[in-house]
Amino acid sequence: MKQIIIKRGASRIVVLLVSAGLVLKFPVISFSGIFKTFDNWRSSIIDREFITDYFFKYSFDYPGTFSFYLFQGIVANIREYRLYRRTKNDFLWPTYLTFFGLVNIQPIGDVVCRSGSDVWDSLYVIAGEDLFADSHTFNKSDNFCHNKDGFLRILDYGAKGVSRVIDKFGCELSKINGL
Ligand SMILES: Nc1ncnc2c1ncn2[C@@H]1O[C@H](COP(=O)(O)OP(=O)(O)O)[C@@H](O)[C@H]1O
Ligand SMILES: [Mg+2]
Repeated sequence: MKQIIIKRGASRIVVLLVSAGLVLKFPVISFSGIFKTFDNWRSSIIDREFITDYFFKYSFDYPGTFSFYLFQGIVANIREYRLYRRTKNDFLWPTYLTFFGLVNIQPIGDVVCRSGSDVWDSLYVIAGEDLFADSHTFNKSDNFCHNKDGFLRILDYGAKGVSRVIDKFGCELSKINGL
């Protein structure tokens, strides 16, 4: 079995250190996103001031802005750590620490093998429409793992909409088993 496995997520590169049982999550800067954004900004025909504000000032939550492609991974790391620290909710796979968002450390999880729609359906029974706060996270099975007793856990919870769902339904979600 390989000792080091590297995976690519939406905003982070994840290094699985198998023998240590730990995972390191590093933020990714999307240079292609930055170039595309620059191109859009340069060639934009609508109100220049508005469009400059949009590309440069809006927060990292908006795809299509420079800050999004630069800081998305760092922000995800920081949000993940803070949500875990604040709630210690059982549904969250633990995040042990963050180093200023530049690296996060988690234990290795056993990633769910079922389809994304299987996971979504189980979550939907409990959280319903609230899942649309971050459907990108909740409809991908590789954002989830099992604990040793087979209970479902989320290992990617750095996106903005996830915290609302955890605050409202985390306790019930932590009881999903058998996926
Ligand atoms: N603690 C973990 N244990 C095992 N695999 C993990 C762990 N954290 C992440 N991964 C794997 O790495 C992939 C990317 O990590 P993720 O946290 O989803 O990053 P992103 O926010 O960039 O999508 C996940 O889909 C999962 O397959
Ligand atoms: Mg992910």
